Amino acid sequence: MMLLGRYRNGKLLLLSFSLLLVLCTYLYRKHGKPTKSHYNVMVWWNPYVKQLDYHRKCGEVECRFTSDRKAQKDPFFTGYLFHGKKMSIHDMPANRRIDQYWGLYHDASPRNAPFLLHSLDIFNFSSTFSRHSTVPLTLQSFTTLEELINYKNMYTFGLKTSFQKKMKLAPVLYIQSHCDTLTGRELYVKELGKHISIDSYGNCLKNKTFPDGITYDSIDFEDTRNFYEYVSKYKFIIVYQDIICEDYIADKFWKSLSLGIVPIYFGATNIRNYLPNPNSAILIDDFATPFDLAQFISQASNNEDLYTSFLYHKTLDMYPISNQLLVNAIFKEDIYYLADRKTRSIVEFECTACVQSFHQEKLQTQQKELSCELPYFPPGNFTLKALPRVRKFVERARMEATIMHKMAGVSET
Ligand SMILES: *[C@@H]1O[C@H](CO)[C@@H](O)[C@H](O)[C@H]1NC(C)=O
Ligand SMILES: *[C@@H]1O[C@H](CO)[C@@H](O)[C@H](O)[C@H]1NC(C)=O
Ligand SMILES: *[C@@H]1O[C@H](CO)[C@@H](O)[C@H](O)[C@H]1NC(C)=O
Repeated sequence: MMLLGRYRNGKLLLLSFSLLLVLCTYLYRKHGKPTKSHYNVMVWWNPYVKQLDYHRKCGEVECRFTSDRKAQKDPFFTGYLFHGKKMSIHDMPANRRIDQYWGLYHDASPRNAPFLLHSLDIFNFSSTFSRHSTVPLTLQSFTTLEELINYKNMYTFGLKTSFQKKMKLAPVLYIQSHCDTLTGRELYVKELGKHISIDSYGNCLKNKTFPDGITYDSIDFEDTRNFYEYVSKYKFIIVYQDIICEDYIADKFWKSLSLGIVPIYFGATNIRNYLPNPNSAILIDDFATPFDLAQFISQASNNEDLYTSFLYHKTLDMYPISNQLLVNAIFKEDIYYLADRKTRSIVEFECTACVQSFHQEKLQTQQKELSCELPYFPPGNFTLKALPRVRKFVERARMEATIMHKMAGVSET
């Protein structure tokens, strides 16, 4: 009895010891290096707004983000964040230290920051349209799932056909005010316009004006509604991007799908991964010439069954989106119910940067995250006149990238 009791006590003691050990390990893991305060300062060298200064709790780390460059002297300073659009080779931090993190936030076309095409590797983390970036913004301009599949904001084939006649609308809509693209957009559209009629309301190839009370790019909500209501009377819209990169999809693409206007698309080389259904857009790359494309548009414009087959995301009640990749992306980016996506992506980018630099993780953005093709033109050779412009852009991108590499203290790769 005695012996058994002592034995049992010993066992209890052992148990308590192991419990204590587990607890200590847990506490140590949870709080990391116990001497260092969980505080971090990051400076937005080029902030996404004019100026900013705030604290954020990112998991266990308290982070201060500020556009005050003097904060680089703070003992808890770990690195810089850059808004790509506002970066300039003439204004970069000097003498980068080896332990200084750089983060890139770029939610726009790479056209606005040419050096990115060759100097993405100066950063430790990135947030761009590329699905490979640290915090991807690929679906940043996606509308909402509800808007995409809701058929209430859409006109039927029959109504669109009658608008065409009554209001003298062309089957194809084109609204573009930036004409000198790297992809020869206006050259292609001009040729296409010889074979099918296109209503062009923007500065490029303009041949039509909006009726009174409708303006484009208005910030007035009521006006925007009128605008969308008006353009959704069209059967097709040209969505032809100014630069071709994987995962880079223009806002106009998602908006068109949501309004039930069929996009005639030239853009992301992997756009098929994002189409709700295989038939959700007419891809310019699939046609040997603008003439062939025009013939197909004309056919689809006059055949209800063919036309409606482009709008399954609107017309099918069950499984309106057959593309599982898109469904996964929507749920992964957790965006289908969020209206204020931009704010959320900035929070995520800031916190990722703050936490990763706090833990001193070894990270470097890879250039291949951004895969753009320059030059890249549609078939048919109607855009070759844009080639000199592309060459100039590529040259400038290389030159700026070389300077960026020098300033970032990263050797040329
Ligand atoms: C401009 O107007 C003409 C005549 O209506 C039309 O045929 C053409 O397709 C239009 N669009 C462009 C981009 O040329
Ligand atoms: C941060 O990136 C730079 C250049 O991209 C690299 O040289 C440096 O080693 C990176 N820092 C860490 C801690 O990974
Ligand atoms: C485009 O140009 C290339 C080289 O100049 C030529 O080989 C090709 O046949 C042309 N294609 C068309 C459709 O005209």
